[in-house]
Amino acid sequence: MTKTRVLTGITTTGTPHLGNYVGAIRPAIEASQDTSVEAFYFLADFHALIKAQDPKLVEQSRREIAATWLALGLDTDNATFYRQSDIPEIPELSWLLSCVCAKGLMNRAHAYKAAVHDNEENGSPDPDRGVTMGLYGYPVLMAADILMFNANKVPVGRDQIQHIEMARDMAGRFNHLYKGQYFTLPEAVVDERVEVLNGLDGRKMSKSYNNTIPLFVSEKKLLKLIRKIKTNSLEPGEPKSTEGCTLFQIYSAFASTDQTEAMRTRYAEGIGWGEVKNELFELLNGQLSAPRERYQALLEDPGHIEAVLQQGAEKAREETTRTLERLRSAVGLGRFV
Ligand code: TRP
Repeated sequence: MTKTRVLTGITTTGTPHLGNYVGAIRPAIEASQDTSVEAFYFLADFHALIKAQDPKLVEQSRREIAATWLALGLDTDNATFYRQSDIPEIPELSWLLSCVCAKGLMNRAHAYKAAVHDNEENGSPDPDRGVTMGLYGYPVLMAADILMFNANKVPVGRDQIQHIEMARDMAGRFNHLYKGQYFTLPEAVVDERVEVLNGLDGRKMSKSYNNTIPLFVSEKKLLKLIRKIKTNSLEPGEPKSTEGCTLFQIYSAFASTDQTEAMRTRYAEGIGWGEVKNELFELLNGQLSAPRERYQALLEDPGHIEAVLQQGAEKAREETTRTLERLRSAVGLGRFV
């Protein structure tokens, strides 16, 4: 049986929060337990440099994200877990793809267009102001990440679909130009059921809105943050709607169906916001306290994380070195003898 290859990358520019967990990490770890799946998960630390030029921040985020995945039980015998920057074949492939990728395709990338749009709005005389080649070529590096392993499925957020389409475009062009099935065309997987969690202020939980609840804050801090979640001014005893309620949304993302239904009834019966917050805290803390401890222990043992990632890179490179040799030959850069 040929297994489906699932691959996804996590840009190492922040501290994982509840939204990342529910939307990406939890489903990815579950997928890696499926025996019909071969999972590749990596820290997109080359991509991080596009957004973050603070070495401390990038370094810290890489450790935190690696520790998070391990603490949450990613089985690295099952999944190949590595740092992008440990695989030199990826930037090399990125160059090969750059040479088949139309510049016009990159002009249409959302992130680049948004930057140009901002410059125009702000009346800058240069529409490309502040745009680096890293940002401009971002989709090429991402295509290299994906095509390097011939991934079939790439679970991503909606904002990334365009990048997967661009990867397909580059794969097709390369295959056509060099007359061979060098690359599998990847498909984006956007899970409609996975909720996008709301943050403290009721908008989408996102680092850019500064409204996140980090996954592994202390118990005390967790309670404090939950208490900050915005609610309306209905008093205890007044029936409340679960519709569009951030507290209920987060609660149900962690609760069983039965727990969710019981909570829905209590909303109708007029549970007070303070009580909902306490219940939410108990639920989250119950699920997060064991991985939180593992996370802290891992952060205190960077040697262990390093060893796990080195093993992952070794496993990945068994394949990438072979693939790249083949690609070099395809484009006329093979050995003479
Ligand atoms: N661009 C992705 C994001 O910001 C991260 C990423 C980098 C990625 N390379 C990838 C995702 C390859 C999937 C596949 O979310």
